[in-house]
Amino acid sequence: MPAENDKLVQRLQESMFEGLSVNLKNEVLNLQNIGEIDNPGSYVSVTGVCGDTVEMCLNITDGRISDIKFMTDGCNFTIACASYVTRTAKGRTIEESLQIEPEDVDKYFGGLPEDHKHCAKLSVMTLKAAIDKYRSELKGIK
Ligand code: FES
Repeated sequence: MPAENDKLVQRLQESMFEGLSVNLKNEVLNLQNIGEIDNPGSYVSVTGVCGDTVEMCLNITDGRISDIKFMTDGCNFTIACASYVTRTAKGRTIEESLQIEPEDVDKYFGGLPEDHKHCAKLSVMTLKAAIDKYRSELKGIK
């Protein structure tokens, strides 16, 4: 029976991932940084044009993003995009993280469907908002 189970899982995965790039499939199978941070240095909640929201929190240590997590009620593409954005930003400096653009995410995933390009934008916008909020709070501007 285990061999039959393996075949069933394989068939299910093939149909679920049909038409998706290898990078997108791998991201979905290895999602990173989902969750929350206790007492984060910054927390934001950003709603995109579709009405879905990404929440992101992060800590910055010595100018680098030392920890970052996200939650979303958005679509599967947004979950994959936010996973990619957070794992790319983690360990980078603030300046390096601000260089991440929606086009980079889209390109990495081999081109998101037209009606899901905004999911990459929402993930990147949320990262930038979290960094901006961290910087504002450092300056005492709240
Ligand atoms: S986040 Fe709303 S469709 Fe992807």
